[in-house]
Amino acid sequence: MNNWIFLLVLVIVAVGVKADLAPTWDSCQCRWDDWVAWSSCTKECYGRRYRDRKVWVSNTEGCTEFSDCATSDEGSELQDCNTFCYNGGTYISSYTGCKCVAGKYGRCCDKTVTCAKPSKPGNGEVFYSGLTYGSTITYSCHVDYNMTSGVPRRTCQGNGGWSGDAARCQYVNTCSSNPCRNGGSCINGVESYKCQCQLGVELTVKTMFSPL
Ligand SMILES: *[C@@H]1O[C@H](CO)[C@@H](O)[C@H](O)[C@H]1NC(C)=O
Repeated sequence: MNNWIFLLVLVIVAVGVKADLAPTWDSCQCRWDDWVAWSSCTKECYGRRYRDRKVWVSNTEGCTEFSDCATSDEGSELQDCNTFCYNGGTYISSYTGCKCVAGKYGRCCDKTVTCAKPSKPGNGEVFYSGLTYGSTITYSCHVDYNMTSGVPRRTCQGNGGWSGDAARCQYVNTCSSNPCRNGGSCINGVESYKCQCQLGVELTVKTMFSPL
């Protein structure tokens, strides 16, 4: 009675086959060994795991195959595992994994969207306390420079990009070099200036009175 032999499962997965013991289970004097430990899950979330068990036979007369004791699906088990998504994600399929809330990504939604480190504008500064989803950056321009394009405040979006465009700072105090002659007054423009001459002022005064 002590000469048991081990028979292994040969077929690993037999989907759809009804689990059953072989008609020769008793005559072969079969008995189950313990299940081995589950395999590790194939995926970090929503994967599959596998385990199998061996069968012992005592009567070895014509009892040499696992199938003399049971069908192959009786010797193995396949199961879903890690059936969860992180951060409020919802499961979609074994192919795509989880659908994540805004700002999270990855098969299991365990990763947080981050935006690229913004660059400092010329003649200005950029401020930020973080680069993750929802973080904001603000720009400012140095004295005598105006923000002529872009936006002063941008937000890190779900697609990993900053909203709006980067700020541009341009010089707006060209008049500081006193470019106007003969008492003309200077009007600052973006990297430019305009001189308003004395004569122009007189003409303006004149036209103001002429219609009367
Ligand atoms: C620069 O910005 C200031 C403040 O908004 C504004 O008063 C000024 O007209 C701007 N200068 C130019 C040249 O656009």
